[in-house]
Amino acid sequence: MPIAYLPIRLYNAALDMGVFAVIGLGVNIDHVATVRQARGTVEPDPVWAAVQAELGGADCITFHLRKDRRHINDRDAELLGQTVRCKLNMEMSMDEEIVQIALKIRPAQATLVPEKRQELTTEGGLDCLANFDRLAEVTRRLAEAGVSVSAFIDPQAEQIQAAAKAGCEAIELHTGCYANAVLPVGGGPADAQAVAGELEKIATGLDDGLQVGLVVHAGHGLTYLNIAPVAAMTGFCEFNIGHSIIARAMFTGLANAVAEMKNAIREGEANAGNFE
Ligand code: PXP
Repeated sequence: MPIAYLPIRLYNAALDMGVFAVIGLGVNIDHVATVRQARGTVEPDPVWAAVQAELGGADCITFHLRKDRRHINDRDAELLGQTVRCKLNMEMSMDEEIVQIALKIRPAQATLVPEKRQELTTEGGLDCLANFDRLAEVTRRLAEAGVSVSAFIDPQAEQIQAAAKAGCEAIELHTGCYANAVLPVGGGPADAQAVAGELEKIATGLDDGLQVGLVVHAGHGLTYLNIAPVAAMTGFCEFNIGHSIIARAMFTGLANAVAEMKNAIREGEANAGNFE
């Protein structure tokens, strides 16, 4: 029996009861702030974007307060904390200044990501083994403040186990390599074998995560055109999607773009099993 998207703490209980939850959509609004910052002005406002995304059916609003404040700034983070009515997910590094802000805002969820100054976007997953002690410490402090912690990681067994051992409640599997296999950087056709291989890694990561009791999300590079096979994998709790939705929103409006992505996810779910 499908049920509506649930807050993370109820999600595992529902699965334990044999109830399948539909996959929630977290809309990443960073790209709206990127356009604002291109002019150093006040528009477009990512806080308005969050409202439009909620009106379009977003289950979660995701933002990344980076150390260099290249898009979302402190004012945005504070206002999002005060105004978002659905789940709020703060992507963040484990830098102490950012941890302190998260402890003040107390979003429903924090997704811990690696952060490099030069990167265009988050490039790879967090290395939970190399950063284990800091990960465990930050996870404990956030959890004590009532923030559910998710780690953004590559779909690798040792990373999944380390995230669970560090006390994370959830993981977000990095789908960027899959996205690049579907639409190779620099052009050219999709490599069917590479696509199948990346989907296999994601499916295995999903199973491994569920096995060790983690809630499993996915994100990065997901689009209207590549979401179907991932949405057909049973067990995901949430997808975090930014660029593709904001790009479409320029032509259709954000609420419409969010609703269309939710439809694409529902269509993928309806094909569960057909892509394996
Ligand atoms: N998940 C994480 C952890 C991210 O860092 C990002 C990019 O900010 C996303 C999801 C969304 O990626 P995209 O903009 O490619 O949809």
